[in-house]
Amino acid sequence: MNTRDFLFKQNSCIHFGVGFTDKIGEILAKTSSSAIIACDPFLKSVSLKLKEECPQIKDIFSEIEPNPQLSGVMKLLILTALNKCDTIIAIGGGSVLDTAKFVKGVYNFKPMDIPELLKYFRQEIPFNATSPIKIIAVPSTAGTGAEVTSVSVVSHGDIKNTINSPVFLPDICVVDPALTLTVPPKATMITGLDALSHALESFWNINNQPITDLYATEAAKHIFSNLIKAYEKGNQIDSRVGMSYGALLAGLAFSQTRTAGCHAASYPLSMLFHLPHGEACAFTLAGFIRLNNDDRLESFAREVGFQNTTEMANYVVSLQRLAGLRVTIEDLGISDTYHLSKLCVEHPLMKFNPVQPSISQMQELFRSLGK
Ligand SMILES: NC(=O)c1ccc[n+]([C@@H]2O[C@H](COP(=O)([O-])OP(=O)(O)OC[C@H]3O[C@@H](n4cnc5c(N)ncnc54)[C@H](O)[C@@H]3O)[C@@H](O)[C@H]2O)c1
Ligand SMILES: [Fe+2]
Repeated sequence: MNTRDFLFKQNSCIHFGVGFTDKIGEILAKTSSSAIIACDPFLKSVSLKLKEECPQIKDIFSEIEPNPQLSGVMKLLILTALNKCDTIIAIGGGSVLDTAKFVKGVYNFKPMDIPELLKYFRQEIPFNATSPIKIIAVPSTAGTGAEVTSVSVVSHGDIKNTINSPVFLPDICVVDPALTLTVPPKATMITGLDALSHALESFWNINNQPITDLYATEAAKHIFSNLIKAYEKGNQIDSRVGMSYGALLAGLAFSQTRTAGCHAASYPLSMLFHLPHGEACAFTLAGFIRLNNDDRLESFAREVGFQNTTEMANYVVSLQRLAGLRVTIEDLGISDTYHLSKLCVEHPLMKFNPVQPSISQMQELFRSLGK
């Protein structure tokens, strides 16, 4: 075996199973004296049922919206402090998980106002090294993989910050594919393509290592073979299980390597054109498959069920088109891509891409999309 030295670090405890959400009470009984649920508005009924069953759960905060704001962090922090909680059960998509993770990173038993939180958001003061708060992360999408990463993505107004800190890693995660049965088709495709981007970007990442390659390849196999079924027949559990498992593996893969070109480009795409996170990542996925193509990626494509990378890239575009996602720069309503391309190549995540595109190469990549 020919490989560089590597470190694979993962301290969370992962429970995976259909219906496992019902067993959160058993986990709480061993770990917590006072807990709060932070949830997506859509998961309120699941949260109310848990609260009825678990005396440790003191309150439910269900006001977290997509692209979570620092104001949501402040409100969750206040409720956590008022209820003297030692645990946050975060039930929702990446937006809910990231809000809870931010609270874990700053918690010191007291409420905080926005100016104080902004010092953390701008990374002027360090996040906790360890936290008095534990997080039980329960993803309801498949998905961001946020349940196994030490990343929190939070916005203040239009400024969206992706912050890395070891303290953000959830302590326990409960991956229950049944929670994803209600995700509508378009959101299923968008979140699934986010997970697919994590798998591919971990595989071709300059930080890749043997274990992350295993996770990334297995993740892509599960996502490629289940995403259309989950999109078309979302109420069937089998494809939801495959997608939740694939998204979890992809999360484990990129938790070590970070992401690369597609995620670098997703930030300007979301900022300038308001594309949801997964749609923004998918927008350049076929383009980066072509740009990053090499023998290794060709073997990966064969391993995950395609004849070659061209067929894999075309399949990604067919998934985007199936769900009515934006595919070409015309779909964004632009013809001049200079400003967008400059922001993409200058994004810090681009340094993890195996090929460093120039601005003109990035413009060429954008022009090639959908062709
Ligand atoms: N921390 C990380 O490692 C990481 C990684 C990738 C992305 N992110 C961030 O995560 C966020 C995106 O998260 P997301 O894609 O999971 O979406 P989300 O949490 O923003 O939710 C998207 C939509 O799906 C709905 N929804 C969620 N679960 C549902 C369910 N079970 N049934 C019905 N509707 C449901 C929500 O109400 C919302 O309208 C972005 O802010 C992105 O930047 C974080
Ligand atoms: Fe992502």
